[in-house]
Amino acid sequence: MTTTALDTALALPSAPGAEWWRSAVIYQIYPRSFADANGDGIGDLPGVTAHLDDLQRLGVDAVWLSPFMTSPQKDAGYDVTDYCDVDPIFGTLADFDDLLAGAHERGIRVIVDLVPNHSSDQHVWFQEALAAAPGSAARARYLFRDGKGEHGELPPNNWDSVFGGPAWTRVTEADGRPGQWYLHLFDASQPDFDWTNTEVRAEFRRVLRFWLDRGVDGFRVDVAHGLMKKAGLPDYVPDIDGGSMGGDASDVPYWGQPEVHDVYREWHRVLAEYDGDRALCAEAWLPSVAQTALWVRPDEMNQAFNFAYLETKWDAAALRAVIDESLTDYAAVGAPSTWVLSNHDVVRHASRLALTADNPQGTGLGPNSPGKPIPEVGLRRARAATAMMLALPGSAYLYQGEELGLPEVIDIPDAARQDPTWFRTNGERYGRDGCRVPIPWVAGAPAYGFNDSGASWLPQPPEWARLARDSQAADAASTLSMYTTLLAERRARDLGEGTLEWIQTPADVLAFRNGSLTVLANLGADPVPAPNGRVIAASGALVDGRVPTDTTVWVETD
Ligand code: NOJ
Ligand code: CA
Repeated sequence: MTTTALDTALALPSAPGAEWWRSAVIYQIYPRSFADANGDGIGDLPGVTAHLDDLQRLGVDAVWLSPFMTSPQKDAGYDVTDYCDVDPIFGTLADFDDLLAGAHERGIRVIVDLVPNHSSDQHVWFQEALAAAPGSAARARYLFRDGKGEHGELPPNNWDSVFGGPAWTRVTEADGRPGQWYLHLFDASQPDFDWTNTEVRAEFRRVLRFWLDRGVDGFRVDVAHGLMKKAGLPDYVPDIDGGSMGGDASDVPYWGQPEVHDVYREWHRVLAEYDGDRALCAEAWLPSVAQTALWVRPDEMNQAFNFAYLETKWDAAALRAVIDESLTDYAAVGAPSTWVLSNHDVVRHASRLALTADNPQGTGLGPNSPGKPIPEVGLRRARAATAMMLALPGSAYLYQGEELGLPEVIDIPDAARQDPTWFRTNGERYGRDGCRVPIPWVAGAPAYGFNDSGASWLPQPPEWARLARDSQAADAASTLSMYTTLLAERRARDLGEGTLEWIQTPADVLAFRNGSLTVLANLGADPVPAPNGRVIAASGALVDGRVPTDTTVWVETD
């Protein structure tokens, strides 16, 4: 690997309190759906490298790459067999090094996804555990238990998998008899590690160092609330409607156990051994902002996804409350708030914000879903929501394709669906395929420029031609142009490092100042006057100087 001047610059530590992750806009790349360089229908790392210029033009500070490590892809890479290698469908370690160097040359940081709660069932450790006897050291790396009932024929407890069905699967022992059960909070192909096991702890310190040595700027930590389970694994009736990843209920014996914080203190110390400001971001679905803030205390992680914000309805009072709560609760532990509206697990916000029936995030949308969104309403609200989010102090996460205004794809044929949720609930929950469809780059090209061959692991809808990046780049009113303007203005004004000051408004309207910027979002039905000053960005056209419904405007006031 060669070290560039920018590599060196990026490696310099910032003054405490001025670390890059406090205010960064971080763009999530879901590699299998971003860009496909070899035409096999699945996006890959060379595809990402080929589009780094587009990301630089968009104006993001960092990218987060969803898992590209070796995996049988039972849960799109969140089922890892080798934590320190690249799956051949995504490329090679050399491809990763090229991507990282290319990003750093452009001043873009790179964080990678770490999946510590579980491995793939094809992981060498799990295969060893299956071959070994109950009570062995190999089994102790995972959560094997004897079943209940006369012959151990009942699962050890009543926990359900987040993806539906039981969280336990029974194995066949070496002598051919039905044997112990192992825990998997997700798919049966994703056995949970036992994080009280010292070998597991040491292995993940090694994995962190492997990627830190290669030069990554940090990690997004998958299921960061789930690593520790309550001692004795007591029964619990889970609330499967409690948020996408099931973490919104309280007192769950497998989420948010206090012992998990020691793991992150340990990792904090590992990251501190390295140059520059390396960051840990928690994917922790918890019942409150205050609880999530515990993951980002000064000696633990740096950021946590603000799912409370993501889950807030398009309602002025509710949004103001969650913004206030977030700024207060994270400030109390010295951490920035993050903001996020979409990711690869939830219905895209260009659809979600216009749902007219209750539809828990995790069930996805499909042909038979109630309350399907009107696309125009969804896009209008999504643009307004993003324009508000990008003016907030803290760090913001974007999900690939939202800069194109992509909606959730609802009409995916049943036979094409791939999310384990769909299979584990016998089609009752559609799952997350609708937000994972390969994104459109070029209107008239095969697979809209996702690749040259036209292949696509999930079908792309015909109406995406008009959403392709190339058509939007040429249109000043497009969603892509809006994102580009907002990101440039956000950077120029250091909004991420700013302070929010609310302005008194009628109900249904939100307005605040951040530095010299005044932001007004009209969530009500009637137009309202724009703040005085020069309009520098707007999510939709103003009408006679008034801000229409579902529109956000940025005004320069000083
Ligand atoms: C959260 C990830 O974002 C999701 O995609 C995955 O299915 C689960 N964790 C299990 O790893
Ligand atoms: Ca490919």
